[in-house]
Amino acid sequence: MRKVIFCFSGTGNSLRAARIIASQLDGATIVSVKEGVCSDLAADADMVGFICPVYEWDIPEPMKCFAEGLTVSSKAYVFMVATFAAVHGRCFETMDAILREKGTRLHYGRPLRCVASQCVAYEPFPAPRFMVPYSERRAKALGKEIAARKHSKFPPMSIVTRKLFDRMMAPFLNIQHEYDKGFYTTDRCTGCGLCSRICPCKNISLSNRHPTWNHRCVGCNACVVYCPSKAIMFKTPEAYRQLDNMITRRLGLPDKRTRYHNPYITAKDMISDGEVIEA
Ligand SMILES: Cc1cc2nc3c(=O)[nH]c(=O)nc-3n(C[C@H](O)[C@H](O)[C@H](O)COP(=O)(O)O)c2cc1C
Ligand code: SF4
Ligand code: SF4
Repeated sequence: MRKVIFCFSGTGNSLRAARIIASQLDGATIVSVKEGVCSDLAADADMVGFICPVYEWDIPEPMKCFAEGLTVSSKAYVFMVATFAAVHGRCFETMDAILREKGTRLHYGRPLRCVASQCVAYEPFPAPRFMVPYSERRAKALGKEIAARKHSKFPPMSIVTRKLFDRMMAPFLNIQHEYDKGFYTTDRCTGCGLCSRICPCKNISLSNRHPTWNHRCVGCNACVVYCPSKAIMFKTPEAYRQLDNMITRRLGLPDKRTRYHNPYITAKDMISDGEVIEA
């Protein structure tokens, strides 16, 4: 029977986790979730997985839309691994609710702590040289449990996070389409077009070899961190500046900031539509 993992990833942590987990599943297909991608692979799969980062204490919008449009066999074992840095929020609840609408549910859900990757706001943390080996080991351990089809209750959103969600996260979600107004390029840009090919939201077009952002951005940072010339910069967009809170005040991308992406995941891996991991 078929095993399929649907993966959304911006800086490669989730794709790396998907590969590690798939390698323990006796043969599995990884499908990259991107704008315009739909799949019928889950309809007759006996194992279906979702692996994605936590964004704003929830799952990224593209993963949510993709899961909502999916047919999932009610006989399938369904798991989710959410890569995150500090707060996983309501991501498992969101996915479980989507699945329940389809007559199934999340049988296993685990957060996987990884390097925090939002380089337009901070240096990567914890230090990748310590965090990446930890995430690798942890992903292997989760892969073992998934291979054994372990059932577990997923961790719920904490009471504190639930209380703070509307005040702290809702304002960001309301102005998310303004985020990419912060991007601009320096004269280091060679017009290679990689940013346009790597964007999972098909949000970047090239005119006269110059990238233009088209306001369908989810802030995944793939364009920034995989640009081979480090030519993409970010200044706080007006709507974010007006929010003026402790998060928006941190926004900005100094030239010397580390553009972290997972060290095992290349730009070519990110552009790929998916892969079959053999047993
Ligand atoms: C737009 C954005 C929002 C994020 N929001 C959260 C969050 O709410 N909680 C958290 O713990 N980490 C958050 N992070 C960190 C990512 O979840 C973490 O780095 C993840 O491993 C990135 O996965 P990826 O490399 O597959 O894109 C955020 C990162 C980005 C880019
Ligand atoms: S990836 Fe970088 S160098 Fe290439 S077109 Fe985009 S911004 Fe320019
Ligand atoms: S424009 Fe850049 S940050 Fe926005 S979704 Fe596309 S790749 Fe991600």
